[in-house]
Amino acid sequence: MKHVRSIGELGLDGVRRLLDLSTHMAEINSRPVPKVPALRGRTVVSLFLEDSTRTRLSFETAAKRLSAETMTFSVSTSSVNKGESLRDTIETITDMGVDAFVVRHKSSGIPWQIAKWTSASIINAGDGAHQHPTQALVDCYTIREAFGCADLEGRTIAIVGDIRHSRVARSNVEAFTMLGARVILVAPSTLLLDEVEHWPVEIRTELDTTLGEVDVLYMLRLQSERMSQGLIPHLGEYATRFGLNAQRVARLRNGARIMHPGPMNRGVEMHVDPSELEQSLIHRQVANGVSVRMAVLFSALSAGGESTSVLKEVAS
Ligand code: NCD
Repeated sequence: MKHVRSIGELGLDGVRRLLDLSTHMAEINSRPVPKVPALRGRTVVSLFLEDSTRTRLSFETAAKRLSAETMTFSVSTSSVNKGESLRDTIETITDMGVDAFVVRHKSSGIPWQIAKWTSASIINAGDGAHQHPTQALVDCYTIREAFGCADLEGRTIAIVGDIRHSRVARSNVEAFTMLGARVILVAPSTLLLDEVEHWPVEIRTELDTTLGEVDVLYMLRLQSERMSQGLIPHLGEYATRFGLNAQRVARLRNGARIMHPGPMNRGVEMHVDPSELEQSLIHRQVANGVSVRMAVLFSALSAGGESTSVLKEVAS
C-alpha cells in the first residue's frame, strides 16, 4: 500500500493488516531501546499546514523509531509566507529525495491532489472535515486492545458531538462499521449533515437515553474553528445536553469505555478529568498512536510492503 489516505481506500483487508502490524510495533515499543533499522535510508517529511500536537509528534516519533530520517516543514518559517504555492513546495521537497509526505491541510482532498505532484507516498494526517484514517486505526486498535477482541463484531459505539465538522467521525464510522460494530451518532441536528442518512449508523439527538447501551462512548471536540455559522445557539446548553459529566459516566454499563481523539475542550464536551476515570482509554489512544503510525509508515515505505516477515528480520 503506497498511500494511506482514507479508510475506504485501505478497505477491510488493509485495515486488518495495519492493525495486526501495529501489534508487532507495540512489541518494539515495549523494549528498553524502542528502535529498529526497518526504514534506514528513508526520509519522511511532516507537512502540517494545520495545527497539531499528538498526530505530528506521534508520526515523527514513529519515523525515528523505525530509523527513518525526518524533516519537519514549518509554515511560519517557510517560503509559503513568500507566496510559494503548495505545488511548488511539494515539488521542491520531492527534489531533495523524500520517500513520504505526512500531510495535514484544511482542504478536503488535498492528499489526492499532492499525489499527482510527487512520486513519494502520501499519508493523510487529516484533510479538512474529510478523513483522518490514522486516527481511526488508532481507535480501532485501542478498542481491540481494551476488549481483547480481533474485530468489533457485537460492540456498540456511540460517537457524540460535532459530527458535522469531524474528519475523525467520518473515518471512524467507516472503520468501526467495516469491523462489524454497531455505531450510534449522537448530536444536535445542527451538528449532523444530510449525508449521515446514507451512513450505516443510527442517529439520536439525546445522549442520556443512549448511555446504557454502549460499549464505547466516543466524545468529539466541538470544532469552533470550523464553524462559520451559529450552529450552536448556546454553548452552555450544548455542554448541558451533550457534555460528559460524572452523572453520565455513572450511567454507563459496567465495562463501558470512554474515548476522545484530543484535544479536549474541558467544560464543553468534557466536564470530567479522564485521568481520574477508570473507564477512560484516552491515554491508551495517545500511546497507541505511535505504534499504529509506525505500522502505517512501515507498510507504505518498506521494500517488502506490509509483510510482517520483513519486519521480523529487520526488527530482531
Ligand atoms: C483531531 C483532528 O485534528 O482531526 N485530533 C487529532 O488528530 N488527535 C480531532 C480534533 O481536532 O478535534
